[in-house]
Amino acid sequence: MSPSAALTPVLAAESPAPGLDNVIAAETRLSHVDGQAGELIIAGHHLQQLAGHRFEEVLELLWSGLVPQPLSAGEIAARLGKARVRAFALMQPLLPGLAHLSPVESLRLLLAALPDDSAEPHHVLAVAAVPVFTAAIIRQARGLPLVAPDAARSHAADFLAMLRNEPPADDKVRALDTYLVTVSDHGFNASTFAARVIASTKAGLFSSVVGGLCALKGPLHGGAPGPVLDMLDAIGTEARIVDWLTDSLDRGERLMGFGHRIYRVRDPRADVLKEAVSALKDGSGRIAFAGKVEAAALSLLHERKPLRPLQTNVEFYTALLLEAVGFPRDSFTNVFAAGRMAGWTAHVLEQELTGRLIRPQSRYVGPMPA
Ligand code: ACO
Repeated sequence: MSPSAALTPVLAAESPAPGLDNVIAAETRLSHVDGQAGELIIAGHHLQQLAGHRFEEVLELLWSGLVPQPLSAGEIAARLGKARVRAFALMQPLLPGLAHLSPVESLRLLLAALPDDSAEPHHVLAVAAVPVFTAAIIRQARGLPLVAPDAARSHAADFLAMLRNEPPADDKVRALDTYLVTVSDHGFNASTFAARVIASTKAGLFSSVVGGLCALKGPLHGGAPGPVLDMLDAIGTEARIVDWLTDSLDRGERLMGFGHRIYRVRDPRADVLKEAVSALKDGSGRIAFAGKVEAAALSLLHERKPLRPLQTNVEFYTALLLEAVGFPRDSFTNVFAAGRMAGWTAHVLEQELTGRLIRPQSRYVGPMPA
C-alpha cells in the first residue's frame, strides 16, 4: 500500500494549541496559578499565608469536601503515621528488586505495587508511602540499615528521622514542611493533568498517582533541582560565575532553575523557599554563592531574551533547601513527589467526584487512503 500524498486535515478546523497553552481543561477548587501576577492560591489561601504551616494542615484544606468524613490536621497526622507503618511493611518484600534502579525509578516501582484492595483510604496511604519509600531507597542504596517510621511524629519530622536515623532539628523540620507545602499543588501542571486523565478512566488512585510520578520525572518538570546543584558545583567560584553562565548560554544550553511556562514574573514559590532556606542555621556560604549566581543569571537572561521574561523558578531554591536538610541530590524528584502527592491525591478525588472521561480529539494530518 503506497502512502497517499494528500495531507488534508479532516477533523477540527482550528490548529491545536502547542503544549495546550492557555487551554482550560477542567474546573478545580484546589489551586490557581496566576502567571502574570506571580500568585499561587492553594485551596483559598495565598501560598505566602500557608508557608510556615504544617503539611498536614494543607492536606486538611486540599482534601476537605472531597472525602466523606473530613478530618482535622491532627487526625490526618495520626492516620498518616499509621499508614507510614503500613507502607513500611508493604515495601519489605520488594526491596531486593530495586538494585540498579535510580531513586525515582525505585519509587515508581514501589508505588505501583500498592494494592488496589488496601483497607486504608488510598489517598492517605499514597501520601504516607512516599517518605517511607524514599528514605528506604536512599538508605538501601548506601548500604545503611532501614529506619522504621514513628507514627507519633509529624510527617516532615518522620521523613527526616527515617532518612538520617536521628531526631531531626526543628529548623530542618520547619524547612521541609515549608517545602512540602510550597509544592503541594500547582494547577494543571503536567503531572497533575496526567494523574487526572488516568483518574478519569476510573483506574483508581494508585494508578493515577503513578502516572503523575512518571510525568514528574522528566527534566522539564520535576527533574531539574539536582542539575541546579550540578551547575553551582561546575561554576565553583565567584570569579567564574559570569564566564561559566555566558559559555553555557553560548552553547545554547538552558540554565537550570530559570524560566517557567506560566509565570511571566517571579515564581512565588522561589521567594517562599528562599526565605525558608535563609532561616536554616547552617549552609549560609552556599546560599550566598547561589544568590550571586542567581543575580548574574537573571541579568544575562534579561540581556539575551529581553522579550521573554525569564525568572528564577521553584527548582533553584528547592535544590538549596533539600541539600541543606540532608537529601542527596539524586533523590530530589522523590521529595518533590512527597509534596506533590498532596495535590495529586486531591485532584484524583476531585476528578472521581466531578469529572468525566477525559478524551480530547486530535487533528489528523497524515495521508488519506487512496
Ligand atoms: N535558560 C536559557 N534559556 C531559556 C531558559 C533557561 N532556563 N528557559 C527558556 N529559555 C529560552 C528558550 O531557549 C526559548 O528561547 P528561543 O525562543 O530563542 O527558542 C525561550 O526562552 C522560551 O522558551 P520556552 O521553551 O518557550 O519556554 P517554556 O515555557 O516552554 O519552558 C521551561 C519552560 C521548560 C521550564 C524552561 O524554561 C526550561 O527548560 N527551564 C530550565 C529547566 C527548569 O528549570 N525546569 C524546572 C521548571 S519548574 C517546574 O516544573 C516545577
